[in-house]
Amino acid sequence: MEINEKLILALDIDDVDYAIELIDKFCSYIMIFKVGLELFSTAGPSIVQEIHKRGRKVFLDLKFHDIPTTVSKAGICAARLGVFMFNVHASGGLDMMKKCRDDVVNVCLRENISRPRILAVTVLTSMSQEVLRNEMGIQHSLNIHVRHLSGLALKAGLDGVVASAKEATMVRGHCGSGFLIVTPGIRPSWAPIDDQMRTMTPRNALRHGSDYIVIGRAILNQPDPVKAIELISSEMQSA
Ligand code: C5P
Repeated sequence: MEINEKLILALDIDDVDYAIELIDKFCSYIMIFKVGLELFSTAGPSIVQEIHKRGRKVFLDLKFHDIPTTVSKAGICAARLGVFMFNVHASGGLDMMKKCRDDVVNVCLRENISRPRILAVTVLTSMSQEVLRNEMGIQHSLNIHVRHLSGLALKAGLDGVVASAKEATMVRGHCGSGFLIVTPGIRPSWAPIDDQMRTMTPRNALRHGSDYIVIGRAILNQPDPVKAIELISSEMQSA
């Protein structure tokens, strides 16, 4: 099996040794590993170094959401870790995203660091239209909200968004061809949906314009995760 450059494996686990075991096991098939809140909270920055040591890239999925200065400083720390990609919440607003982007660009230039891609999380793939309306108080449609937040991320100079593949075509139309679309909530037809609400298969996600797809449980919870990667990769190739 060739290395899959578009499949990001979500290492959603809380055991550092097990995470390293998985990285070793999968690094011949996966180029980008996603380190999220759970693993980063237990392992800290050293897990990023472990992935880099093996020549693989990191999507640091900590979804920063705070005042502009705090998010910008956290973004600079992520850049100094050498991650390939990190993200902030678009709902943190234009100033927050713009300051983070500008400060990261300046530090990277000054310190000769390669600049990470900065993505904005639009609406979590675990949220439905009803949750958005009834809990978040947002009265317009989920699609319009994702479109609005994507436009804001583009205006702030960010590299792309995290959205559901169901919104990928719309985001592409609104933000253009150079804008990255990273889609979690991906489920092959043979995997359970779990807590995700806006899901799509790997093949359809690529057909709708995703640049990268993120998968965790549909690989890690399988009895044979390598077989799962193989199935997903061949499905992606056929897109
Ligand atoms: O196991 P599963 O494939 O559902 O994992 C999806 C991963 O993508 C999780 O790590 C989750 O935190 C992340 N994510 C998401 N929805 C977003 C942003 C990130 O599911 N909007």
